[in-house]
Amino acid sequence: MRIAIAGGTGTVGAHIVRSAESAGHEAVVLSRAAGVDLVTGAGLDLGGIDAVIDATGPSTRRTPEVIAFFESVTANLLRAEREAGVGHHVALSIVGAARIDDGYYAGKAAQERALQTGDPAGAVPWSILRTTQFFDFAEQVAVPVGRLLIVPKVRSRPVAAASVAARLVEIAAGEPVGIASDLAGPEELRIAELLRAILAARGESRRVLEVPLPGRFGKGLRDGTILPGDRARIDSVSAAEWIAGYGTARG
Ligand SMILES: NC(=O)c1ccc[n+]([C@@H]2O[C@H](COP(=O)([O-])OP(=O)(O)OC[C@H]3O[C@@H](n4cnc5c(N)ncnc54)[C@H](OP(=O)(O)O)[C@@H]3O)[C@@H](O)[C@H]2O)c1
Repeated sequence: MRIAIAGGTGTVGAHIVRSAESAGHEAVVLSRAAGVDLVTGAGLDLGGIDAVIDATGPSTRRTPEVIAFFESVTANLLRAEREAGVGHHVALSIVGAARIDDGYYAGKAAQERALQTGDPAGAVPWSILRTTQFFDFAEQVAVPVGRLLIVPKVRSRPVAAASVAARLVEIAAGEPVGIASDLAGPEELRIAELLRAILAARGESRRVLEVPLPGRFGKGLRDGTILPGDRARIDSVSAAEWIAGYGTARG
């Protein structure tokens, strides 16, 4: 299959490209670095593409801009998919984001809604995979202040980005499923605990300070709303395995 990977240069996107290629598919990267701006639609042409995996993410965390980003990217992709006769749109979302629908997660909720309700012209068949935070998230989200790293208080069940990528490719190659089973890692960890373990493994002595974020977004991060339910698929890669090198090789 020819699979277009929107955000194929990003943290999970680069894994999706590798996963698609190692499963025998042709991967076509859609990102600004590859000459395609999915917010404006400039450079977007999906001729000859069988399926699209959307793993884009905005560079801003400001809620209105995040919502506008995910709405524009989804609308532009769906329009181009319709024009080119693409058979399957696969979006990557976050466990619990649609329930919280606030802060950054308002953007993910808007992205999910755009697929579930937003294609009156008839429909590119779609699937949504909701996952927990990638192991990489601990460092992505940390704010350095002197020798301190500040992270939000988050109860998570973090997962390897490589496992997320493999599952997205598997979904893209199959029939559209609507909302797929959630995907999560094998153990519950707070993001601060994960970051401390990453730093310890590297022999770094920086301290990690955990702070509760305000509002519905912050409450949802720390009260278990973004933990998966009983029916989630549980991946086998643990934090210890990822830290011990799985992360650099495949994770
Ligand atoms: N991080 C997590 O723990 C986690 C967990 C579950 C789900 N997710 C979701 O997974 C997605 C990807 O996350 P990530 O951490 O891999 O993001 P990331 O590393 O920030 O990558 C973002 C990607 O989006 C592309 N992009 C940004 N603006 C674009 C534009 N205007 N046009 C085209 N491409 C654009 C970037 O490429 P260019 O800069 O080249 O344009 C890059 O490839 C997000 O939707 C996020 O919500 C993340």
